[in-house]
Amino acid sequence: MTTLSDEAQLHAFEARIARGDKVEPGDWMPDRYRQQLTRLIQQHANSELMGALPEGQWIPYAPGFKRKMALIAKVQDEVGHAQLLYMAAETLGKPRVEMIEELINGTSKYSNVFNYPCETWADIAMVGWLIDGAAIVNQTIMQTGSYGPYGRALKRITYEEAFHLKQGYDLVVTLATGTRAQRDMCQEAFNRWWWPTMMFFGPPDRQSVHTEVLQRWGVKPKTNDEQRQIWLQKFVPKIEELGLDIPDKGLHRDPDTGDYVITQPDWDEFFRVINGDGPMNRERLALRRLIYEEGSWLRTALEKRDLLPRAA
Ligand SMILES: [Fe+2]
Ligand SMILES: [Fe+2]
Repeated sequence: MTTLSDEAQLHAFEARIARGDKVEPGDWMPDRYRQQLTRLIQQHANSELMGALPEGQWIPYAPGFKRKMALIAKVQDEVGHAQLLYMAAETLGKPRVEMIEELINGTSKYSNVFNYPCETWADIAMVGWLIDGAAIVNQTIMQTGSYGPYGRALKRITYEEAFHLKQGYDLVVTLATGTRAQRDMCQEAFNRWWWPTMMFFGPPDRQSVHTEVLQRWGVKPKTNDEQRQIWLQKFVPKIEELGLDIPDKGLHRDPDTGDYVITQPDWDEFFRVINGDGPMNRERLALRRLIYEEGSWLRTALEKRDLLPRAA
């Protein structure tokens, strides 16, 4: 009886998704849908929060007042994105404090790209252009997904990402059309960020364990390879226009489909990095942990605010 009822609910749930309805927090949903969405939104929130660190560390060194203002605004936006996404994940029943603790104790993942060093100002340009550009591809697709609170949060976030992309592109154009030293710095940073960007969308579809069911339930409307292809179609012409040299010497277009075909990046490196063993994982998590510990006085104050005397 229970099994039949579960099946009927699953059937109704899948029919709703097929119609394009949004799933809302109080609605019935399969446990697996709840778990996968929680995992996905939590990792996304973690990535926004961790992504603020390398750029935040460059704020004191930004070349000039306007660049500094734009970078401060961007970093603030990214932390705001984390806030919105943790709230969206909380609607699925997982408390935020648990998610933050999983992040700082290393049991919850975040994007590979935030575990690489930003050696020069040109790395900040590349993050703003290539990575925010990749985030926009991903988020524009994910906002059409079936879970209402996640889609709505992403819609708002994507507006701000569009500004980040513009500031990143403006930085890259300035360097790529600047002095010889600036152009060299730009090319070197581009070489460092090409492969991590290729890995950003995740392993090829044939290796991805989650994609099939996530697609059927409208959690992930396009696959990793499809998202990577959209990015390539958008970015490769612009990279060529700027005269940057792409480090993948095997990159070419399929003569029949027009799709870009890439040399596969080192996926072992990708798995090492997302599992905590990248060049900057320890340092970045240690900084996040320090920030969390230093903020404990505020959490305590908020917990005890009801004990404070009220103004007359
Ligand atoms: Fe963001
Ligand atoms: Fe961004």
